[in-house]
Amino acid sequence: MAGGQGTRLGSTAPKGCYDIGLPSHKSLFQYQAERIARLQAVAEKECNKAAGSVIIPWYVMTSGPTRRETEDYFTKNKFFGLDAKNVIFFEQGTLPCLTTEGKIVLDSPSHIAVAPDGNGGLYAATRAPLSQEDKSHSVLSDLKKRKVLYVHAYCVDNCLVKVADPVFLGYCINKQADCAAKVVPKASPSESVGVVARRGDKFSVVEYSEISQEQANMRSDNNELAFGAANIANHFYTTSYLNSVESFEEDLAFHIARKKIPFVDLETGEFVKPSKPNGMKLEMFVFDVFPYTQRFAVLEVARNEEFSPLKNAPGTGSDDPGTSRRDLLAQHRRFLEAAGARVEDGVQIEISPSLSYSGEGLELVKGKTFTKSGHVQSLEELDTLL
Ligand code: UD1
Repeated sequence: MAGGQGTRLGSTAPKGCYDIGLPSHKSLFQYQAERIARLQAVAEKECNKAAGSVIIPWYVMTSGPTRRETEDYFTKNKFFGLDAKNVIFFEQGTLPCLTTEGKIVLDSPSHIAVAPDGNGGLYAATRAPLSQEDKSHSVLSDLKKRKVLYVHAYCVDNCLVKVADPVFLGYCINKQADCAAKVVPKASPSESVGVVARRGDKFSVVEYSEISQEQANMRSDNNELAFGAANIANHFYTTSYLNSVESFEEDLAFHIARKKIPFVDLETGEFVKPSKPNGMKLEMFVFDVFPYTQRFAVLEVARNEEFSPLKNAPGTGSDDPGTSRRDLLAQHRRFLEAAGARVEDGVQIEISPSLSYSGEGLELVKGKTFTKSGHVQSLEELDTLL
C-alpha cells in the first residue's frame, strides 16, 4: 500500500522513495525490493531450485498523486535488480470531497474535487484494469495466472517490514486463515495505531482516530491495556478471499476525515484554499473487511524486529526518519550479535538485505569484533569493519 500522500511526513515525493538517512541512503522501496530478492534466493537454496526460478511478485498500490512518480522511480533505479515484469503497479480509486453539510465540492466550475479513497480502495483496485491499453488484466487475474494462493499486504512506511514473511504466511496457512493481521503490544494508550479487537463475535480494527479516550486507557485485571493489540498494517489474505470481497464490499462504511479542501467559489469564480477544515474526505480502511472473514488469525510479533513506521517529519522524535534509522541499525547490530559477533559501542553497521533477510547467513562473523561503522553488501565487506 503506497498510495498515501505522506502529509504528516511533509515530503512531496511518494513515501516509499524516502531516504531515512541510512549509511547506504537506500529508500524504503529499495529495502523492500532487496528483501524480496533475498527471500527468493533463500527459498531457492532451501528447496534446491535453480537460480531465478522462485518468484515473489510485488504488487505496488499507488494513487493518482503517487503513481507517475513511483513508476518513474522504479524505472530510473532499474527496479532495484528485480525483474520488471514481476513488479506490478496498480492504482486505487478516488471519491468525491464533501462539504460539512454533505454536498459535493467543486474545485473548478466543471470539476468535482476528489481525493484518494483510502487504503481500503485496495480491494476495488485489485479488480480494476492494470492499464488503459489492456482492460482484461487486473491484479486478481494476474494472481490467478501466476497461481498465487496467498498474499501479504503491508504499508510502505515500515522500514522493518518483513516482506512476504515466511513465518507469518506459514502461521496463517497452518491456521487455515483466510485473512489475518500482525500485531505488537501497543506502546502507550495514545499511540497512533489501530487496535485489533472483537466487536460482538467478529474481529475488527478500531482505528486510533475513532477509539474513545476511555477505551484507549482501559486496563484489564493484569494492568495491561484492554485494547492493546496494535495493528501494524501487515495483513494476510488467501487469493480466494480477495476474490470474495466484491460480494460484500457494498456493505462497508466510509470513514470521515475532516480536511481543508480547496474549492471554487461559484459566485466570484475565485479558487479558495481554506485555512481550516471546511469539508470531509471519505476513506475506506483496508481492515474493514476483517469482520467478514470466516477464519481470522492474529500473530503477535516483536516490535523491535518488525515495526518502526515513518509517519512524522524529521525531528519529531517519534515515528520519524531518525527513529526509523535508529531501529533498523539496532536490528542489524542484533543480527551480528546473535550470530556470535561483538560490536563495539557506538559502531553502526548497516547490513544489506541482499546479504541477510532476517539475520540468517551471518555465521562466519562468530567470534569477531567489529570496530568500524559502515554499510556492507557482502561478507567480504564485513571483514573490512573489524
Ligand atoms: C495505518 C493503519 C493503522 C495502523 C498504522 C500502523 C489503516 C487505515 N490504518 O494508520 O491501523 O496502526 O497504519 O502504522 O490502515 N495508503 C494508501 N492509500 C491511501 C491512504 C494510505 O495506499 O489513500 C497507504 C499509505 O501509503 C501507507 C498505509 O496506507 O502505506 C497507511 O497509511 P497511513 O495514512 O500512514 O495510515 P495510518 O493513519 O498511520
